[in-house]
Amino acid sequence: MSSLPEIASRVLDDAERTSVGELRALQTERMAWSLNHAYANVPHYTAAFDAAGVHPRDFKELADLKHFPFTAKKDLRDNYPFGMFAVPREHVARIHASSGTTGKATVVGYTAADLENWASVGARSLRAAGVRPGDRVHVAYGYGLFTGGLGVHYGAEVLGCTVIPISGGQTARQVQLIQDFEPDVICVTPSYLLAIVDEMEKQGIDPASTSLRIAVLGAEPWTDAMRAEIEERLAVHAVDIYGLSEVMGPGVGNEDVAEKDGTYLWEDHFYPEIVDPETGEVLPDGAKGELVFTSLTKQAMPVVRYLTRDLTRLLPGLSRPMRRMERITGRSDDMMIVRGVNLFPSQIEEELLTVAGLAPHFVCVLTRPGRLDELCVRVEAREAEVDRGAAAGRLASGVKERFGVTITVDVLDPGGLERSQGKAQRILDLRGDHT
Ligand code: DLL
Repeated sequence: MSSLPEIASRVLDDAERTSVGELRALQTERMAWSLNHAYANVPHYTAAFDAAGVHPRDFKELADLKHFPFTAKKDLRDNYPFGMFAVPREHVARIHASSGTTGKATVVGYTAADLENWASVGARSLRAAGVRPGDRVHVAYGYGLFTGGLGVHYGAEVLGCTVIPISGGQTARQVQLIQDFEPDVICVTPSYLLAIVDEMEKQGIDPASTSLRIAVLGAEPWTDAMRAEIEERLAVHAVDIYGLSEVMGPGVGNEDVAEKDGTYLWEDHFYPEIVDPETGEVLPDGAKGELVFTSLTKQAMPVVRYLTRDLTRLLPGLSRPMRRMERITGRSDDMMIVRGVNLFPSQIEEELLTVAGLAPHFVCVLTRPGRLDELCVRVEAREAEVDRGAAAGRLASGVKERFGVTITVDVLDPGGLERSQGKAQRILDLRGDHT
């Protein structure tokens, strides 16, 4: 892996250099504005605040936020398509949407000022990842209604990079353009990056020999075991970027390349809380729970206490006043309950990367042959010659030992699973009616 000169010279913008006290004062001021803006301009918030018996003028300090109602994805769906917008539709400069797994898409909107803020937190994110003006940035997140491609794109442009907007898919062409254009940075989901790396090997190219120095990875959960795999095979620094469309898109937070120890949340724009997913009670920093965001500057579509379903904990900043969040182990909707034990695909990923013969391409298949749920992990062998029985046995016993869950393992040929071109689908639920 290249040693990065920028690790020694971290570059911070003004907001990243303020004190925690100054940050809290800014958040308080912006929060008051945002709550007022939502209440005054979005009928959903007017009704929800009224029903909860709170008014924006009740907000005096950040601790008062707990009195305000949560917003869930359902609220966005119920107000489809534009009912959550707080500005006249003509002031909305861009629309994105996430398809979701069921029902209507979730629609989000941005004013020109929102797009500017998004690009600036995108630039800050990439800078934290070690990207510098002049770097060539290969963007393999999907372009379109998904926020990934365009979100990172404008961040990279504002930072002063040369952007290569290839989008997702056409894996052989991705490899060709990496060879020809010699990018310094790739922005992509970790699962699709592995597909690109496999394609390089298939073409006889040593992935460690490319021009790439940094991979900015996100849009899906990934583990430190996956980081180690990617860093070794591709000889890059693999850094986490986080975001969600309801709050903005990619660039709600990012890891610092020199730390690789938690993702900074850009708290001057997005105020985070951790709540107990069952009771909604606000938990102290350090406690694990569901991540909740309130937007502080968004004009077109403010969100108040948006329940992300992402499970993590907040940690103090190291090099910045903003707090970090621990790597997201999974979404509460991705939690599998196998014979009473809670398990996330990320835990399977971590364990299977300790088994030499297994590749990090896998899917968790849930069935219910009798009254109990069963989990079968379908995973690819790294090479055709691997002793599959032994590898399957090692993974099953590792999962049993570490997490106390009995699983079966089906080891497939290399290339036996379909590759995602964006977010990997880690769970295949064949339980029929499991409500
Ligand atoms: O995935 C935005 C994005 C694009 C982030 C590109 C990073 C890079 P959505 O499609 O709305 O937006 O999905 C948001 O994806 O609530 C998390 O569950 C998951 N997610 C996003 N980034 C990470 C990450 C984009 N770094 C949902 N680690 C979020 C774990 C992530 N999960």
